[in-house]
Amino acid sequence: MSAAKKEVKKVTTNTLQRMKANGEKISMLTAYDFSFARIIDGAGVDVILVGDSASNVMAGHETTLPITLDQMIYHAQSVIRGIDRCLVVVDLPFGSYQSNSEIALASAIRIMKETGAHAIKLEGGEEVIDSIKRIVSAGVPVMGHLGLTPQSIYKFGTYNVRAKEEEEANKLRKDALILQEAGCFGLVLEKIPAQLAKEVSESLEIPTIGIGAGKHCDGQVLVMHDMLGINTEFKPRFLRQYLNIFEQASAAVKHYVDDVKAKDFPNDSEQY
Ligand code: KIV
Repeated sequence: MSAAKKEVKKVTTNTLQRMKANGEKISMLTAYDFSFARIIDGAGVDVILVGDSASNVMAGHETTLPITLDQMIYHAQSVIRGIDRCLVVVDLPFGSYQSNSEIALASAIRIMKETGAHAIKLEGGEEVIDSIKRIVSAGVPVMGHLGLTPQSIYKFGTYNVRAKEEEEANKLRKDALILQEAGCFGLVLEKIPAQLAKEVSESLEIPTIGIGAGKHCDGQVLVMHDMLGINTEFKPRFLRQYLNIFEQASAAVKHYVDDVKAKDFPNDSEQY
């Protein structure tokens, strides 16, 4: 008789809602491939974001703008094969939802159908509300994203902290409520003052997930390549680097090159 498969308690949007209500912080990390998704899922992260930051850290582009819907689908399919319990949220890439709500819904449906992911995320407030409502009404969970929205980098001109001025802070407060009203199950707040993030988090029933938005958000998200030190050039104040994979991997690869050159690898026990 085969051993019974271990019951896995899967994270859902309802789980996140409950965590907020119970004051339990939500952990979210990006992933873009099968192998790291396995590590992240196994280590107990609640939510994996297949972020369009793949455009930067996987493809080497300067911004998130070039990545396509097909490429996001490829990354999401790989991540889904590596997870057992995480909720997997996939970014709608630039150009796949801004023009109108019909195109936005078609993009969201492609992601859900072709990847098996559990939710999508998109950037912006009032400007994209029709798209959000249409996607939500088709039964697809949507996560919002306010503050620094990297797909609008050429409008902002910099990656500096957003909403420091009262006018922009007021728009963000209003947008957060509109997104909740439209049915978003959660909201990423990127690079805004901690005090504003606290106020917004307390004013909403849905959980906020911060990146550079301080400790009062209901959860935190980081780009995996930044927190593991795969990427070492990016060192904003909000980033805590837990490892220096770049250094460790470089040393290991140099060691391998030295072994090959010295005819030390392979040795007798490493051949047939
Ligand atoms: O694409 C991404 O990685 C993101 C996070 C920075 C929140 O949107």
